[in-house]
Amino acid sequence: MLLRTQVFSAAAAALAALCISTVPVAANESGCVSSFDPSQDYFPDKVQSKYGSGFDITYTGNAKYIRNNIAGETYVLYQCGTPVPADAKSTPANSLQVGNWTKVAAVPGSKVALDSAPASAALELLGLQDTVAASYERFVVTSPCMQKRLAGLPRIQQSYGSPARRRRAHLVRRVAYDLASSDLQWTFTTYGMTDARSFSVNPEGASDMLGKAEWIKFVAAFFNKEAEANRVFADIETRYGATKKRLATQQSQRTVGLARYNKVANGTVVGWTVEQPEPWLASGLADAGMAAYTGATTSYTSIGRFYDATSGWNALIDRSTEPLAHGGATLPEWSDLLAGYGLNSTARDGSSKPLAYLSANSIYRSDLISSYQNATDYNEHLQLRADLLLEDFGQIAAAQSGATNTTWFRNLPLEVRVDWISADDCKN
Ligand SMILES: *[C@@H]1O[C@H](CO)[C@@H](O)[C@H](O)[C@H]1NC(C)=O
Ligand SMILES: *[C@@H]1O[C@H](CO)[C@@H](O)[C@H](O)[C@H]1NC(C)=O
Ligand SMILES: *[C@@H]1O[C@H](CO)[C@@H](O)[C@H](O)[C@H]1NC(C)=O
Ligand SMILES: *[C@@H]1O[C@H](CO)[C@@H](O)[C@H](O)[C@H]1NC(C)=O
Ligand SMILES: *[C@@H]1O[C@H](CO)[C@@H](O)[C@H](O)[C@H]1NC(C)=O
Ligand SMILES: *[C@@H]1O[C@H](CO)[C@@H](O)[C@H](O)[C@H]1NC(C)=O
Repeated sequence: MLLRTQVFSAAAAALAALCISTVPVAANESGCVSSFDPSQDYFPDKVQSKYGSGFDITYTGNAKYIRNNIAGETYVLYQCGTPVPADAKSTPANSLQVGNWTKVAAVPGSKVALDSAPASAALELLGLQDTVAASYERFVVTSPCMQKRLAGLPRIQQSYGSPARRRRAHLVRRVAYDLASSDLQWTFTTYGMTDARSFSVNPEGASDMLGKAEWIKFVAAFFNKEAEANRVFADIETRYGATKKRLATQQSQRTVGLARYNKVANGTVVGWTVEQPEPWLASGLADAGMAAYTGATTSYTSIGRFYDATSGWNALIDRSTEPLAHGGATLPEWSDLLAGYGLNSTARDGSSKPLAYLSANSIYRSDLISSYQNATDYNEHLQLRADLLLEDFGQIAAAQSGATNTTWFRNLPLEVRVDWISADDCKN
């Protein structure tokens, strides 16, 4: 009986070996293949960045080469169970090189750590939340089901490499996530790091709206989920195109500006800043028929000057934070903005021009969906859902006296409440 089984197995193995170059190699439970054929295309489903995403990806046989132009890093991902590509020169883990690291990893991922809110959102959009196995100790998200998941998982720390070496008068230190205690594969991060096992996810650096959404494709490549990413992205792209077309007839030509008051921990407002819009934000506002105020970033110490600079704005997007006395910050409410911008003080009455955004109830913050840890969905799903974000801009463009029917933008003058999300809101 034993002999028969062995003979059968040998025959089956020989048959399987013959088939290797014609049918895709079966992957085991961890997604690894058990043999390597250099002539095979291991990634028949591919993604491509078509918009201003800030990353490029190319495929060869058993490897994917990704250049993250925002973080300034190169990632070589190869199919697990096949050899590391000969040209993949990973930066040594103990290198003190500043920036431009090359990092190499076997894919698909199955056990990863999170320190990136948009990576968390991408994993949920791709149905890959079960691959999250840990998170950085200070990482927070808005998604209720990810909050619930993270609560039951290990928190990891960053460790500082030694020896720290003095180099051109700078003390160069390595900062890496401590994945040692478990079999975690890598960490998704928010910027390039001196960590051979971290990958940076940067939709905020994209130059247009759909380029942001393309970071779904970037994350998918780490899990061989290209086909799914192409489906998810195509839906966003289609909806974005339809909304843009609809809004083109609206053409409100309203001007939207970004500003903040600068409050220090003792509660004193020390000045006001007009910020430049990110390139993707300017492109999104233009697609909604509005114009972004694109002066240089300017700080004002006189409120009158600030009013003069902003009086022509039809909507103001506030970027202020309310510092807490003992560190940290919380989300401003309308009363904070009234005080922070002096909107009901005599300073305003002395100003020469009326403030269009104030009389039109059009002061917004992108924190309508926030978690009790003060994470905002702005940093999470908004980075990828360009279609829904354009709907918000369309609402802001169309409203005569302040929009309230928005997904992420909270109308402060109309005192729309923050939608505070906790793990208890997870219905799964
Ligand atoms: C899957 O394949 C990889 C690479 O060949 C191997 O290291 C791993 O042990 C295999 N896992 C299982 C469950 O067979
Ligand atoms: C970054 O590293 C790559 C090799 O990995 C090299 O070809 C490139 O010139 C480097 N770029 C910069 C800006 O240092
Ligand atoms: C608060 O801090 C600012 C700047 O650090 C300082 O100029 C001001 O005097 C402080 N005010 C009080 C009441 O401590
Ligand atoms: C978050 O904001 C709340 C008030 O809304 C504040 O009480 C709390 O201390 C803040 N938490 C953090 C971590 O800053
Ligand atoms: C501004 O006015 C509101 C009521 O309209 C009031 O609650 C708030 O305290 C005032 N703030 C300042 C700084 O005067
Ligand atoms: C609110 O917005 C949604 C989609 O953004 C739209 O379908 C709905 O008609 C809007 N409702 C109102 C009252 O404007």
